[in-house]
Amino acid sequence: MSQPINAEELTVGKKAAIRLTVNGKSYELEIEPSRRLVDVLRCDLDLTGTKISCGVGRCGACMVLLDGKPFNSCLTMAYQCEGMRIETIEGIENKEITNAFLEEGALQCGYCTPGMVISLQGELEKNSHPTEEELKECLTGNICRCTGYGGIQRVLKRLEEERRKQ
Ligand code: FES
Ligand code: FES
Repeated sequence: MSQPINAEELTVGKKAAIRLTVNGKSYELEIEPSRRLVDVLRCDLDLTGTKISCGVGRCGACMVLLDGKPFNSCLTMAYQCEGMRIETIEGIENKEITNAFLEEGALQCGYCTPGMVISLQGELEKNSHPTEEELKECLTGNICRCTGYGGIQRVLKRLEEERRKQ
């Protein structure tokens, strides 16, 4: 297991070598210390499913899983992810969540949807039978500017009911 890179060892303008596992694939990258994870994912790895909206940690559009936990990738520096396992929306194969969004009509422009799917996936990974309230709680960092939340509320109810039957 690799050691985290110490911020004090980083030099402005000098690249740092990092290793990441993204959606099960290993990468070795040379990055400037000032680069955010979201930019490395989108620009270097071409994983554009992770969105940037506010860019300052308020909307959740850029959410990814870091070692299974949801984080805003616009607030995460790439060097902080040395040796970590990252999952982006491209790596989420959970049809239970994505079908719920589609079948409940819980999206319009869809810009917020990858971040919401990631937050729900993170919750379901740690809690296989969440209550509707727990699912609602895990989306408190995700903002949708289109749907009015009615459809999203139906997604949560459906996920809770489906999990209760399992
Ligand atoms: S773009 Fe990261 S939280 Fe809004
Ligand atoms: S569907 Fe457009 S921001 Fe949520």
